[in-house]
Amino acid sequence: MKNQELVFPIVNLQLSMGTNMRDIIDLKQARDVGFSAIQKAADFLRDRFGQAHSIKKKGAIDLVTEADEYAERLIIDTILAVYPDHSIIAEESGNVPAQSPCQWVIDPLDGTTNFAHNLPCFSISIAFAVNDETVFGVVENPVSGERFWAIKGEGAFLNGKEIRVSSTMSLSESLLVTGFPYDLKTIIDMLMARFKRCLEASQGIRRLGSAAIDLCYVACGRFDGFWEQNLHPWDTAAGALIVREAGGIVTDFSERPHLSNMKEILATNGRIHKELIGLL
Ligand code: IPD
Ligand code: CA
Ligand code: CA
Repeated sequence: MKNQELVFPIVNLQLSMGTNMRDIIDLKQARDVGFSAIQKAADFLRDRFGQAHSIKKKGAIDLVTEADEYAERLIIDTILAVYPDHSIIAEESGNVPAQSPCQWVIDPLDGTTNFAHNLPCFSISIAFAVNDETVFGVVENPVSGERFWAIKGEGAFLNGKEIRVSSTMSLSESLLVTGFPYDLKTIIDMLMARFKRCLEASQGIRRLGSAAIDLCYVACGRFDGFWEQNLHPWDTAAGALIVREAGGIVTDFSERPHLSNMKEILATNGRIHKELIGLL
């Protein structure tokens, strides 16, 4: 897909009760703006991958590179050039608040530790929400060229082909994926006890290092389930919609429907959900 400069008319986005969200924003246009933004960031990160980086620490093991920051700038500038009145939540620069009910939630580089170690498993995640409900999400691994995306109610896609979650019926037949939060030292015993229970009950567990990719791999059936805690909206907003649109279930560990501001996430093919809830 080639970079395109997109300019769309700005619609008045004041939502009133009963207004259909599709009446006030053209989701296909929003999707194309998201695609344009992720394409620019993906081209940039692919170019920078494998080179030396200036690495700063946000915490003891929480890294940020100049590439995270520049990719985020590219994404925000692309979105605001078309939708100057939309609000933004982005991992590295925080919030650009606005009156609009439309909000973009951005992780410019999910898997920074992998990126910093030249491991080609990282992604960009961009979600678009109206009145706090995610209605479009896109996740791309710039190195593999895989782009996952979904619009609410219209299915989930990987590079243009519709995807579905796996049909695995039991945990004992399942391949799982998880991640560990940066504050893991404070909760390590609980994390390991949970990991042990799931490891014993399943066919195996992987730790890829990009929550957005973990979710997309559940959506396309490579994994049967994913759980993690202490994630942020930018890690999960796009991927959670993609899982749901692919037929999966996304909740917290108490089976409440997952909202992107929730700290716990369990995403599965639906068939193993209850069994996994029992272990978490
Ligand atoms: C991290 C990745 C990782 C997960 C961490 C996240 P970042 O995001 O998604 O897989 O285990 O909890 O914070 O910091 O690379 O954007
Ligand atoms: Ca992240
Ligand atoms: Ca990040």
